[in-house]
Amino acid sequence: MTTLVLVGLQWGDEGKATIVDVFAAQADVVVRYSGGANAGHTVVIGTEKFVFHLLPVGVLHPGKICVIANGVVIDLEQLFKEIDEMGSRGLKIGDNLLVSSRCHVTMPYHKSIEKLAESLRGKQALETTLRGVGPTIVDKFARSGVMVADLFHERILLDKLRRNTSEKNLILERAGLSERFDADVIVQQLRPLTERIRPFVANTSMALADYIDRGKKVLFEGAQGTLLDIEHGTYPFVTSSHPVSGGACTGSGVPPTKIDRVVGVLKAYCTRVGAGPFPTEDLGDAGKLLRERGKEFGATTGRPRRCGWLDLVALRYAARINGITSIVVTKMDVLDVLEEIPVCIAYDYGGERLMEFPPEVDVLADCRPVYERLAGWRQSTRGVTDREQLPSNAMSYLGRIEKETGVAVALVSTGPRRDETVVLQRDLISL
Ligand code: GDP
Ligand code: IMO
Ligand code: MG
Repeated sequence: MTTLVLVGLQWGDEGKATIVDVFAAQADVVVRYSGGANAGHTVVIGTEKFVFHLLPVGVLHPGKICVIANGVVIDLEQLFKEIDEMGSRGLKIGDNLLVSSRCHVTMPYHKSIEKLAESLRGKQALETTLRGVGPTIVDKFARSGVMVADLFHERILLDKLRRNTSEKNLILERAGLSERFDADVIVQQLRPLTERIRPFVANTSMALADYIDRGKKVLFEGAQGTLLDIEHGTYPFVTSSHPVSGGACTGSGVPPTKIDRVVGVLKAYCTRVGAGPFPTEDLGDAGKLLRERGKEFGATTGRPRRCGWLDLVALRYAARINGITSIVVTKMDVLDVLEEIPVCIAYDYGGERLMEFPPEVDVLADCRPVYERLAGWRQSTRGVTDREQLPSNAMSYLGRIEKETGVAVALVSTGPRRDETVVLQRDLISL
């Protein structure tokens, strides 16, 4: 096995980063393939906490090649902030980082346009992370975006920026806002950033093809989650990229025939940050308990995450869309104190029982969860690393996930630290 895609199965924040960090130890190359600085990936090593938005988590492992592939939208200032932070913590980012020349670049006007779009939506706001990712991708699809490669050709860059700023300025003017953007000023601001990014820029699809040909082990680090995917998520309450496993191919140039494994990361319960339907959301005390025990506050925006129960209908859907070959369940320890754990086995849609995740968001919004209550284990699993120490009710909980998806749970995470994991099926998660 040489390639493995690690993908979130819910609405993001499944604990992917912790798991990427565990898998990265066996990998030679770690690739971010989607999203942008909207991601918030937390890794805890001992007493130290690292939060990443753009840099692949693999940078925590010296000697690994890290790739920011074409599917990622880059905010240059944010990227260098992270590189500098890593540097100040003793991790030098040098020729171990490759950035695709085809990545689209977030410009200052993208953030302003996003703020405006959100405010114009009023009560229907998507509650985005305001990192400018959506508008950057809008420009990409409008075929007017600025790619990393353009930064090195000032004439082309200026031309693109002039067109883009005049369009954005028109929108800002019509909205009655006083903010304006000047292409020449942006070009000047970009110069030092361009010089800094230069040594990292590469033909990453070619580099990845070469690594794979040479038998190197490549790990694809998912951002966001399946239900936030622009194609398959709860549109319009989604992000603007392709977190699903297929996104690893379009987002990196590695073809589907070269993907060996797809590991789905699932939180033992469910969270969502931002607007949109969430059938199993618990607005009562139990939801609060999950938030407190799971420390469910956004790593990018600090917003409290909405909390609720495991949704097996959505999970079966995510398993199908991604073609997962095994599952990693995170945050088992958060459920330790519960006597009973509700899991959603179907939806009630106006008296009709739905077993499949509906493709229409309006239908989903009117779905009520049908719960089965599984027995809790009322015993600490925090930090457990040995499968024999997982209580039998915890094993039954995992068994239920396996039964519903037909896919084995290969790894369980029992705490935020990189060493707090239980391996159940090593052969399914090895690279
Ligand atoms: P990601 O976006 O999927 O990488 O997840 P985030 O980093 O946004 O959020 C996951 C949070 O849960 C982080 O604060 C992690 O440190 C923490 N975490 C990960 N795995 C576990 C676990 O098994 N137990 C507990 N209690 N916390 C965990
Ligand atoms: P990680 O990688 C959770 C959500 C936002 C909002 C919607 C659109 O940490 O799992 P955007 O700024 O992307 O246009 O916002 O998507 N969102 C995330 N939620 N985890 C993330 O990433 C997210 N990235 C975006 O809250 O609802
Ligand atoms: Mg996150």
